[in-house]
Amino acid sequence: MIALPKAELHVHLEGTLEPEDTVRFAARNGVQLPWPGPEELRAAYSFTGLENFLSVYFQGCRVLCTREDFRELTVAYLERAANQGVRRAEMLFGPQAFLDHDIPIDDQLGGIVDGIDEAREAWGIDGALLVSAPRHRAEADALELLEVVRPWRDRVLGVGLGGAESGNPPAKFARYFDAARAEGYRTTCHAGEEGPAACVAQALDVCRVERIDHGYAAAEDPGLVARLADERVTLTMCPLSNLRLHVTDDLTTYPLKRLMDAGVPVTVNSDDPAYFGGYVNENYAAVTDALGLAEAEVRTLARNSFSGSFAHPEELRGVFEELSGNERP
Ligand code: HPA
Ligand code: ZN
Repeated sequence: MIALPKAELHVHLEGTLEPEDTVRFAARNGVQLPWPGPEELRAAYSFTGLENFLSVYFQGCRVLCTREDFRELTVAYLERAANQGVRRAEMLFGPQAFLDHDIPIDDQLGGIVDGIDEAREAWGIDGALLVSAPRHRAEADALELLEVVRPWRDRVLGVGLGGAESGNPPAKFARYFDAARAEGYRTTCHAGEEGPAACVAQALDVCRVERIDHGYAAAEDPGLVARLADERVTLTMCPLSNLRLHVTDDLTTYPLKRLMDAGVPVTVNSDDPAYFGGYVNENYAAVTDALGLAEAEVRTLARNSFSGSFAHPEELRGVFEELSGNERP
């Protein structure tokens, strides 16, 4: 599993901030944190649900201030990912939390793209950036995000939507996704994490996104499952995140295998690995153990991660050959 080539399609760059780095960045940027050290911070990572997690996550974001911080964060994640066999990483990042604190977009995205370029050079990992809007804010803010990132259009591959799902259905952001598509961005939307299966359908019908982040609740609706399989809609599932945020309390009943057996292209991802106790391989290991996945099924998950990626198909030919069984994982 360590060496098995894979893509990570659902990881929030801010969620890769390890407690040691949170404390280190806070000290060097003069930011006060409510936790004195990394141990206390780790102890705070016991979440009651998504909104409670997001409040800790946004406090963590406060320590990221300079272009150098964003570069280091990106390089650290991509190095870890490369060491876990990740060949391609599509990373979500939400600029607005930082713009609110007067951190210029050029420092944010400049640091991230420097990190992506450096990691490609050092470890050959193919990093790509997706900007994400928070759904608790107005759609006008999401539309403004598209304006703000326009100067970086050639380095931003796609757009997403994250944050508190309850009370903020995908349809609220229909024009955001329309505008993004008109500008040529690839699209993905968090849906069916805390919200019902109907939100997954709405993300497809109203927002017409290409991919669904999480999609956990889709398994409750057999008609929707058949549709996801038919239309080959990739779900970027995050088992350890779902466990930590009480979306599920038991991975032995996690719907990933049922969805896979029904022909849905499911993938395994880490979401916010520094907060949820594992990077992508720990997530693969957790579902493999809990669901008793066979080696061929793990390979299918890895293959799905590339076919569901936004990479150019030409770039993926070599990795599909590797995964076709010529090399052992
Ligand atoms: N869900 C929604 N929004 C998020 C998450 C998540 O798990 N992580 C970071 N933003
Ligand atoms: Zn997420």
